[in-house]
Amino acid sequence: MKETLAAIKDRFSTRGYTDEKLTKEELDTILTAGLQAPTAANRQEIHITVIEKGNPILDELQTELLKGRPGAGRSFYYDAPLLMILSGPESFRWSACDAGIAVQSMALAAESLSLGSLIIGCIYDAMTGEKKAYFNEKLQIPEGNAYQVAFAVGHKNFTKEPHTYSMEKNVTKL
Ligand SMILES: Cc1cc2nc3c(=O)[nH]c(=O)nc-3n(C[C@H](O)[C@H](O)[C@H](O)COP(=O)(O)O)c2cc1C
Repeated sequence: MKETLAAIKDRFSTRGYTDEKLTKEELDTILTAGLQAPTAANRQEIHITVIEKGNPILDELQTELLKGRPGAGRSFYYDAPLLMILSGPESFRWSACDAGIAVQSMALAAESLSLGSLIIGCIYDAMTGEKKAYFNEKLQIPEGNAYQVAFAVGHKNFTKEPHTYSMEKNVTKL
């Protein structure tokens, strides 16, 4: 298992997966990492819906996504064996922040296990548009929760360099 700093450094957005499924232990490790993430006031309000590849709801989401982005042909979750949807209470101002922390913890847990992952925002319009109630029901999203972010995970069939960055541009040391 990778050390934390190595996982942070090595992680990249994985946009291609093999068909190999995750083991129950791998899935539980990743879910646990999400649940162990801090939340504002320790509210623990982030809910995670786990969806296996092949579930027809994924095609329905893809179809809805394409309505707003005709021409975007690729599977939004790159046919990963698992997609997770993180939702949180619409009325709680920290839901988006808490979901972001949870999803990064899950991404780092996946990298620690040498799995690939992708944080996904692009289904926001599909999840919050005119079919919002339909998708919320199908995905068993708790009452009052709204989509925050999605997360694909699986065995890597793709590689790329982690992104570059600039300390000068993004950091001010007073
Ligand atoms: C909130 C958020 C939403 C994102 N949504 C998508 C997405 O919908 N599709 C996608 O391919 N990548 C998505 N990404 C991945 C970013 O494009 C990626 O993190 C960025 O290009 C840096 O590359 P790296 O993750 O490989 O370092 C998202 C990342 C974040 C943090």
